[in-house]
Amino acid sequence: MKTSLLLFFLFLFFSCTEKIAEQAVEPPAVGLIADSAMVVSAHPLASQVGVDILQQGGNAVDAAIAVQFALAVVYPGAGNIGGGGFMVIRENDGFTDCLDFREKAPLAGGRDMFLDENKDVVDDLSTRGHLAAGVPGTVDGMFRAYEKYGSLPFSQLIQPAIDLAAKGFVLTEKEAEGLNENQEEFMEHNTEKPAFLLKEEGWKAGDTIYMEDLAKTLTLIREQGRDGFYGGETAANLLAEMERGGGIIAQEDLDRYEAVFREPIVASYEDYKIISMPPPSSGGVALVQLLQSIEDFSIDTMGHNTAATAHVMVEAERRVYADRATHLGDPDFYAVPLHELINDAYNESRMESFTAENATPSDQVSAGDPAPVETMETTHFSVVDARGNAVAVTTTLNGGYGSKVVVAGSGFLLNNEMDDFSIKPGFPNMFGLVGGEANAIVPEKRMLSSMTPTIIEKDDKLFMVVGTPGGSTIITSVFQTILNVIVHEMGMQAAVNAGRFHHQWKPDSIFAEPHAFDEETTRVLEKMGHTIVNRDEIGRVDAILVLPDGRLEGGADPRGDDRAAGY
Ligand code: DON
Repeated sequence: MKTSLLLFFLFLFFSCTEKIAEQAVEPPAVGLIADSAMVVSAHPLASQVGVDILQQGGNAVDAAIAVQFALAVVYPGAGNIGGGGFMVIRENDGFTDCLDFREKAPLAGGRDMFLDENKDVVDDLSTRGHLAAGVPGTVDGMFRAYEKYGSLPFSQLIQPAIDLAAKGFVLTEKEAEGLNENQEEFMEHNTEKPAFLLKEEGWKAGDTIYMEDLAKTLTLIREQGRDGFYGGETAANLLAEMERGGGIIAQEDLDRYEAVFREPIVASYEDYKIISMPPPSSGGVALVQLLQSIEDFSIDTMGHNTAATAHVMVEAERRVYADRATHLGDPDFYAVPLHELINDAYNESRMESFTAENATPSDQVSAGDPAPVETMETTHFSVVDARGNAVAVTTTLNGGYGSKVVVAGSGFLLNNEMDDFSIKPGFPNMFGLVGGEANAIVPEKRMLSSMTPTIIEKDDKLFMVVGTPGGSTIITSVFQTILNVIVHEMGMQAAVNAGRFHHQWKPDSIFAEPHAFDEETTRVLEKMGHTIVNRDEIGRVDAILVLPDGRLEGGADPRGDDRAAGY
């Protein structure tokens, strides 16, 4: 036993040190530069759809709607009509707005729905299959965004997605891998074989995939509006799917679903104004708390990803994520102490226990010890139109391909967002995040999110549009990208390329990409008492920076197939 433990630690040691030495494949140092308008998304075809809409005279929201539908086709692991998300908008006159199209717990759901008779969590029930799905919000969200901001005919915005689904599109290597890794789960969790996702000999880059049922569903949405999804044939298929698979979403849930416009989180950091998503996302609150916590430290002179800088950031992160677990949830159901949390004095006081020499053990901040699991299936896109309007959207099925359940006859995947609730107090979700009362399941409540679509202003002008997938790491990836530009003076692409690290209070470890820290930095951090655990990749940031001359630089994350397109 002892020998095998020793061998295990030796293996961990060597695999970690080897990875620290390894360098990622060289990504471009500078991103696409465009004169007027840009879209950066997880897929080249979706970015192109967005730019086409902008060139046809559409505004940034028109383009965002078109990109959301296109990603539901070409990026099925995370792009969706069966999930939800958040949109942050800044018009060129400085007016800001946020749209919450997050999924909701079904009316028949409840606090103990993922527990057995002994009140123990049932394995996988909140992450796989029909019960894992929250009531989808994306389609209602797109119509609400359109009604308030859209300018081109809606049919023009959804048509590119219909064409991609009906005429087929060519798989990238990463997509082929994603589909191949999920073949068994698609078989296991579906009541009818989702033939369009299955391929016995395995998918490979260059294969064409067709999504006829999805094309039909998108056409129904084009013809009937919201009712093309929440009523008629699509709803009937979804309810039949629930019936066959033991799910609980009912017609009343679909009828009652409403996306809502909310007041953005707005706060200043140095000379910049941060505009981000309020609860039910924790993203905007936590991002502002992090920025306020580190504002008094001289991160610029400490340097990028040095031990001193990483230590300050990590200590702020552990304190902010402890707050997240206790205080944040859907504000329609829980009194979130928003203003208390995004208060400079409060966040400064949280850092009073900081010492430059040593890590503060998370147990001294609070209790619990969950372990996170990495999945990479949410997606973010950023849009700036030629008139200077900006939109940041993060949208998700939660895990890769969500619940793995395809609504038979309608061709779209359902989310597994119910796992973002605290299914039992203190029990870690798939990202290792814990929670309690604030995020307990209540019918029609929205589950707490980490998604952080964010827009930044400088001197009253648009400065940056940013966001990423990555579950619990979303907030810290956005935090680092912002600091990389504002404090470390990197360009957009360089800021996106840079190695990332993350701490979320529990477990008490820094997760770090292989190229985040050099050997000396790792040694110093460990000496301070930090534990460093390697992660191959953290986040997929897609962002746009307004350059001093007014042109735009795209930052498309080289960790994925992400692409900037513009003109
Ligand atoms: O809303 C959230 O915070 C999660 N459902 C996001 C999931 C995610 O980012 C997965 N991809 N990496």
